[in-house]
Amino acid sequence: MVFDKEYEIVENRFISGITHLLRIRAPELKNVPAGSFAMVRTTLENQYDPMMRRAFAIADIQENDILLFYDVYGRGTQVLTHLKKGDKVSVLAPLGKKFFPENHSHYILVGGGIGFAGLSLFMRRLKEKGKSFKAIYGVRRKEQLSMLDWIKENGFEDDVIIYTEDGSYGEKGLVTKDLEKLIMEKSDTVLAVCGPKGMMRAVMDVAKKNKTPAYLSLESKMACGFGICIGCVIKDTEKNNYVRVCYEGPVFDGYKIEF
Ligand SMILES: Cc1cc2nc3c(=O)[nH]c(=O)nc-3n(C[C@H](O)[C@H](O)[C@H](O)COP(=O)(O)OP(=O)(O)OC[C@H]3O[C@@H](n4cnc5c(N)ncnc54)[C@H](O)[C@@H]3O)c2cc1C
Ligand code: FES
Repeated sequence: MVFDKEYEIVENRFISGITHLLRIRAPELKNVPAGSFAMVRTTLENQYDPMMRRAFAIADIQENDILLFYDVYGRGTQVLTHLKKGDKVSVLAPLGKKFFPENHSHYILVGGGIGFAGLSLFMRRLKEKGKSFKAIYGVRRKEQLSMLDWIKENGFEDDVIIYTEDGSYGEKGLVTKDLEKLIMEKSDTVLAVCGPKGMMRAVMDVAKKNKTPAYLSLESKMACGFGICIGCVIKDTEKNNYVRVCYEGPVFDGYKIEF
């Protein structure tokens, strides 16, 4: 069931780099599928700019709260930073129909930048189910590790390998640096990936070389978020037609799409 409601903001604060954390009291959303997303209205009261809601991954659920991590780029996310504890925010969620498959023996999660927020709830659910997994979190430099505190505070420190391109934290290099080695360590491994397109392409190159299944959580400009505006399409190369990221996704088999 999809809810379209005004929810109370419990916390909205700067974390690091350009990332903020928005914690919303939304008891109806406590059991949403990992990988689903929310369309959030980012207008101040009595204003209509921007008209369209903005999409954010549901990065975590803690008791009755959902957590969104958002990078500030333009008008919508700037407006979001002005909302305060106690304010109401209009949220349409949970959205998306296709998520990461759950029938594999071992998972490697690969998140780049804020893309890690598209994997964090899935990681929590894997851990709760006792599934075997390793996560990779890569950014350019330390200040961009906006989910580092969340990782530490939620007991995932031993599950996540961190890469910075400049070596200012964790391993120096790209998320693909040790990926092949990690893939070879276990059988029936599947990759769950979310991040910038360049990073996802590089991950797909490693996946293809090793014939490893890989599922990508994609982003696209979204106006509606539920399938009617046809604004978010990508090419399905298997069926040779177009599919909506918001409705047929946001998770796709990386071997079957053009992105
Ligand atoms: C399914 C889905 C899940 C998402 N999850 C998250 C999430 O968890 N956290 C998060 O921070 N973002 C997430 N995004 C991206 C987020 O929706 C956009 O960053 C947001 O809509 C930007 O809105 P804005 O009004 O601030 O910027 P706009 O006014 O829409 O854009 C301003 C400028 O910034 C550029 N821009 C906008 N977004 C991005 C971007 N993501 N990367 C680089 N340049 C950009 C635009 O091209 C434009 O030049 C997600 C998107 C989708 C589709
Ligand atoms: S955002 Fe409207 S169809 Fe996907």
